[in-house]
Amino acid sequence: ASSLGAAASAKGRYFGTAVANNHLGETDYAATLNAEFNSVTPENEMKWDAVEPNRGSFSYTNADKIVTHAKSHNMQVRGHTLVWHSQLPGWVGSLGADELRTAMNNHITSVMTHYKGQIAAWDVVNEAFQDGSSGARRSSPFQDKLGNGFIEEAFRTARAADPAAKLCYNDYNTDGVNAKSTAVYNMVKDFKTRGVPIDCVGFQGHFNPNSPVPSDFQANLQRFADLGVDVQLTELDIEGSGTAQANNYATVVRGCLAVTRCTGITVWGVTDKYSWRSSGTPLLFDGSYQKKPAYTSVLDVLNGG
Ligand code: G3I
Repeated sequence: ASSLGAAASAKGRYFGTAVANNHLGETDYAATLNAEFNSVTPENEMKWDAVEPNRGSFSYTNADKIVTHAKSHNMQVRGHTLVWHSQLPGWVGSLGADELRTAMNNHITSVMTHYKGQIAAWDVVNEAFQDGSSGARRSSPFQDKLGNGFIEEAFRTARAADPAAKLCYNDYNTDGVNAKSTAVYNMVKDFKTRGVPIDCVGFQGHFNPNSPVPSDFQANLQRFADLGVDVQLTELDIEGSGTAQANNYATVVRGCLAVTRCTGITVWGVTDKYSWRSSGTPLLFDGSYQKKPAYTSVLDVLNGG
């Protein structure tokens, strides 16, 4: 196949990208998106500060534009994200425990109901674990006031709101076998044992020289898949250029294809021009929307075998 989306589709997967609503009007941006990708994740537009800046007052305008664009181009949508410590409006953090619980559940229910039937998978909870060797939960209003149970409560509320959406836990620095990924693994294992609804685990895949693609990347995906959840690369970007970058991308895509339950890959942006790594070049298209060696290597791997 001649596009990332079509090649992934032939392998039973999707190939997606993060999208920012304010670039959809740029001709080259939209053309590249529409030609290459069959899944989108709103980069910021579905986050709590964007959709519920004030308590009980929801604004979906920018997120709706992305969903409408996706639908009209037969792209699926990953919802990102319902419960996260970052991009969280100040009012949430100032609530007491009971009110916070109510607000969290109301946020999940409201947003998922607005998009009911239109989201393939939701990142229900994002980045709830600390980096480093502790395996501990990260401090956040949710963790600090509601305790460990907030994650399970969020997933139960999410399942009730849109039973057709796949429910994912999403995190970074969990791509290899390490203390953080093992803490997430143990949580997922516990959820599966106790019947807490969870369908998928998202591995963000933000790689750079200080945080390279781990040698046990595929094995780590496989151990999660063996728990009975799908796994996805949700925010892939790899710093670098040329052949080295292309080889790293190939390793990641091969790792996903080797795991039956790895259902799709999302890169965190269409073009280097708009990457969140402002001075970096971590994506598949350069700042002029030209295909990079990394693009060719990803397409070749998807088309291979
Ligand atoms: O919307 C405001 C705008 O009104 C203001 O004028 C402008 C001035 O700086 O800021 C705009 O907000 C920015 C927002 O992106 C929208 O462009 C924020 O400053 C900026 O911090 C924010 O960055 C986003 C970041 O998440 C915030 O945590 C990045 O675009 C986005 O790529 C990044 O994505 C995260 C995933 O959600 C979770 N995993 C890590 C990943 C990379 O950090």
